[in-house]
Amino acid sequence: MPIPTSITIRRPDDWHVHLRDGPMLNACAVHTARQFARAIIMPNLVPPVTKVVEAASYRERIRRAVPAELEFEPLMTCYLTDDADPAELLRGKQEGVWVAAKLYPAHATTNSAHGVTSMDRIARGLEAMEKAGMPLLVHGEVTDAEVDIFDREAVFLDKVLAPLLKRHPGLKIVLEHVTTKEGVAFVEASGPRVGGTITPHHLSYNRNALFKGGIRPHLYCLPIAKSEEHRRALRRAATSGAERFFLGTDTAPHTADTKECACGCAGIFNAPVAMQVYAQVFAEEDALDCLEAFASLNGPRFYGLAPNEERITMRAAPLQAPERIDVPGGNKSVVVFHPDTPVGWSF
Ligand code: NCD
Ligand code: ZN
Repeated sequence: MPIPTSITIRRPDDWHVHLRDGPMLNACAVHTARQFARAIIMPNLVPPVTKVVEAASYRERIRRAVPAELEFEPLMTCYLTDDADPAELLRGKQEGVWVAAKLYPAHATTNSAHGVTSMDRIARGLEAMEKAGMPLLVHGEVTDAEVDIFDREAVFLDKVLAPLLKRHPGLKIVLEHVTTKEGVAFVEASGPRVGGTITPHHLSYNRNALFKGGIRPHLYCLPIAKSEEHRRALRRAATSGAERFFLGTDTAPHTADTKECACGCAGIFNAPVAMQVYAQVFAEEDALDCLEAFASLNGPRFYGLAPNEERITMRAAPLQAPERIDVPGGNKSVVVFHPDTPVGWSF
């Protein structure tokens, strides 16, 4: 069959986004809002968003950072700490502020110093979430320095996530940014209460790309990209149309100076190119007919929300996107993700 020259789908949502705050928020939010109707906003600010009142005021700052003509709804999350208060979790859910809570194992990734040190510490909070139908979003990596960085997701599934599912049989869980074939198999085997998000960058390249011709700080994120067999498993899962895999870009801006240095930050800024890269992957897999399920239907279904009514059209034309965007006030910029391989889809 010839490859179509355009594709029209319901407007997509992004179920995993870092928007930051202050000048970075003002520079980045528009790029997510141009592509997506709604986004799950990650709470790993400094300090993290742990209180309902903080999440509500952060939501206001996000709304103000998005141009009025773009319709965009930020969906807020609570950052779980060892001291997470079950009553605060429930109140935020009931007041329509929190859609979910995010579990960062302490020190697993960027701004996770306040994360959870043991699942026992948050058991009461998780019970409350289970009863309220509030999903738990999981950064699925163990943090023990002895575990090889490429094995941290697979070990987390065995050591932490499987026991957690047993202990909380009604809790809805999203394994965020799945990067391994083990992660794909775990989601597939877990039944309807477990979903998985997949990023555009983990679909686009494998770990070789991190070291192609030298070290590539702008391809560094956590969980780190794995080998080709894992990338293949992710592409199969995302493009299969299976209901429990959905779009989550994990767009995570850092200024260029904090990535191009001796100890660079983890995080990839892909918001301006996200849908174009996903479309490219689906086209390469001959699965453009499954793009709408992954980008616009499966996520809302998992979260119990209606899909968007509006449609977007993408065209088969070379990607047009800036190399970097400026962050106002301070002469800093953020490098935009560009895959090494051609992207032939555009808005
Ligand atoms: C994220 C960030 O920069 O906030 N970084 C990343 O590499 N993905 C944190 C995260 O989601 O792990
Ligand atoms: Zn993230």
